[in-house]
Parts: sequence; structure tokens; C-alpha cells
Amino acid sequence: MDEILISYTDVEIHQQELCVLEQVNLELRAGEFIYLTGKVGSGKTSLLKTFYGELEVASGQAHVLGYDMKRIRRKQIPLLRRKLGIVFQDFQLLTDRSVSDNLDFVLRATGWKRANDRKDRIDEVLKLVGMSNKGYKYPNELSGGEQQRIVIARAMLNSPRIILADEPTGNLDMDTGRAITDLLHRISHDGSLVVMTTHNRLLLSEFPGRILQCENHRLEEVAELDEERNNKFNNLIQ
Ligand SMILES: Nc1ncnc2c1ncn2[C@@H]1O[C@H](COP(=O)(O)OP(=O)(O)OP(=O)(O)O)[C@@H](O)[C@H]1O
Ligand SMILES: [Mg+2]
Repeated sequence: MDEILISYTDVEIHQQELCVLEQVNLELRAGEFIYLTGKVGSGKTSLLKTFYGELEVASGQAHVLGYDMKRIRRKQIPLLRRKLGIVFQDFQLLTDRSVSDNLDFVLRATGWKRANDRKDRIDEVLKLVGMSNKGYKYPNELSGGEQQRIVIARAMLNSPRIILADEPTGNLDMDTGRAITDLLHRISHDGSLVVMTTHNRLLLSEFPGRILQCENHRLEEVAELDEERNNKFNNLIQ
């Protein structure tokens, strides 16, 4: 079995005085592709935030990449985040510089001193996401799907073991969303753990993966979707 990268036992997650999720038990491993689904406001983003130390765990045991999230110190959080790749729905590229300069900015901020190493790594990640030769473009010269590829390339720069993607296809049309999901799948095949939140049940049924569903303050693993489940999902997530 592959290594466990995220392990939660009886975890409770709060947003201020509200208990968002309780009795969360999880074991997520290297190489897995995880869908996180559930209605609006059911706790998907809150759960992801606990993985990268943006939201504290209220009780239970939580480990991410060996860090005990109940005890992690504030100054350790940037170290944890460097080992994670985070992708959001809105692309958050710097609009005043080219794609390459966006990527170079992150490499310089994370300690890559040699310009040649940075250039090589930028070429590698652009190739990985199918965007070789687009480095000179400015973000506003790219389509939404292309921008999201660049954000994924940026998340991959420091070879993270875990990619967390919160509605990465939310602003994209179906075909583009499919291509982004396919790309994230390939990244999981290369050995990273990928956790992706989505409302899109078509994607859920098209690409294989474990499905975790937030419902009634609980996180449940759902078996592969059959027709009946599809209908139930349809009702749940519309
Ligand atoms: N910063 C915050 N302060 C207080 N309450 C919050 C905060 N962020 C989220 N919440 C509340 O926590 C609950 C879970 O929100 P969360 O964002 O995790 O849901 P979600 O499943 O990601 O929803 P969506 O599908 O809309 O993205 C909601 O009731 C929300 O109102
Ligand atoms: Mg959310």
C-alpha cells in the first residue's frame, strides 16, 4: 500500500461557533485521486483549509505529511505549505507579468537561487501541463482553461506530495473542466495525492476516484456512483 499522507481520527472542524464537520476519519494515500463533494456550505473548503493550516482542527487527531495539525506551530505552517500545491477556482495569477515571470516569482520566493535551474523547472512544469511555449504570454492573453493549467503548473513547481484543488473547474466550461480533471488525474498517477472539490457530478462519473461527501456535518465515503446514486447526487448538489 502507498504511504498515508493525510490521516484524521475523530476530527471536529469549526467555523467560529459553528461545528461544520464532526467525527471525521480519513486515510488519504500517495497516488490517490479524491473527490470531495457535497452541497453548498457543507464544509468542503473548511476541510481543505485544515489540511494546510488555514483553519485549526477543534478536536481529534490530524496528521498531514507527518505534521501533527493539533500541535503545529505557526512558523512551521509555511514549511508545510511548501510541500503542498494549492489550486483555487479563481486563477490568482499576477496580471502584470508573463506566465514565466509568474512561475519565476514563486521559485525565487521558495529559495531557487540559480537562474538556470529556475528556467529548467519552469520549462518542465509548462510541459507537464501542455503549455510549453506559452511562457511569454500574459495571463489575460490566455483562456480560462489555459490560465488554470498555469495555476496547476505553479502548484507543481516544488514537486508537492499533495495537490489540493478547490473547485478548479468551477469557472470553466464542461470540456475545459474535463481536461483540467484529466490533468489532475495524471498528476495523481505520477504519485501525488490529489484532493479536488467539485459540484460537477458528470466529472465524478467520468473519471475514477474515491468520493468523499460532506453531508449533515459528517464526511462519508461513497461507493462508485450508480444510476440511483447519480439521481440522489443530482438532488443533493443542485
Ligand atoms: N470564514 C468563515 N467564518 C465563519 N463561517 C464560515 C467561514 N467560512 C465558512 N463558514 C461557514 O462554514 C460552513 C462551511 O463552509 P465551507 O466554505 O466549508 O462550505 P463548502 O462546502 O466549501 O461550500 P461551497 O460549495 O459553497 O464552496 C458554512 O456554513 C459557512 O457559512
Ligand atoms: Mg467551498
